[in-house]
Amino acid sequence: MNSDVTAVVVAAGSGVRLGGTVPKALRTIAGKALVRHAVDNLIAGGCSRVIVMIADSERQAFEEALQIAAPGPGVELAVGGEQRQDSVSNGLALVDTDFVLVHDAARPLVPSSLVAEIISQLRSGSDCVIPVLPVVDSIREVGADGRSSVIDRGRLRAVQTPQGFRTDVLVAAHRRVSELGVEVTDDAAAVETLGVEVQLIPGSEMALKVTRPIDLVIAEQLLKES
Ligand code: C5P
Repeated sequence: MNSDVTAVVVAAGSGVRLGGTVPKALRTIAGKALVRHAVDNLIAGGCSRVIVMIADSERQAFEEALQIAAPGPGVELAVGGEQRQDSVSNGLALVDTDFVLVHDAARPLVPSSLVAEIISQLRSGSDCVIPVLPVVDSIREVGADGRSSVIDRGRLRAVQTPQGFRTDVLVAAHRRVSELGVEVTDDAAAVETLGVEVQLIPGSEMALKVTRPIDLVIAEQLLKES
């Protein structure tokens, strides 16, 4: 093991909510694929190796988008799995550094300063550090009977990526959720099953997740203004 930082970028989903014929991570803003934006920002923030998890059928398209033939420092592709957590697990098996960041390719504009802050917290002893933002909408919970009740949004946070971990902690967490047979939508939720404390730091509006068509327009505009 060494104290460098590997980023595992999950890009093996189909991105059906965004529409289009190519995987979401290959959609472009400012002439560059979302995944390339994400990878560049992770490297600028201090990651020395980036493993991008993809569907095997998309290998050539990702090689072109990431210019793997003429790579930057340590950008490589590996095959993801059925669910997001399977894609992360497959990537983790390749990690040989003390610390790992897990990032959604769908968050292309994550600031390098946020990446650097997460790495700094890990090096200072945090086992798990995640960026979060306050929730701006009022939130209601809807029961199976269709009745709803309001939830105090002051206590809620929206969770972003990259999420940073001590690699051995995240490996143990993924083993645990696999044993329990539970599905998690992010890696901090997996770590929580071990009783490990999840450290929250302020996230960034720039790290928005491109999910719906309007998000592509917003991301392009944010990039122009940044
Ligand atoms: O579906 P959702 O938007 O939550 O996916 C989050 C990220 O996980 C996306 O970047 C997607 O490409 C990735 N993913 C994956 N493998 C899967 C499913 C999703 O890498 N099997």
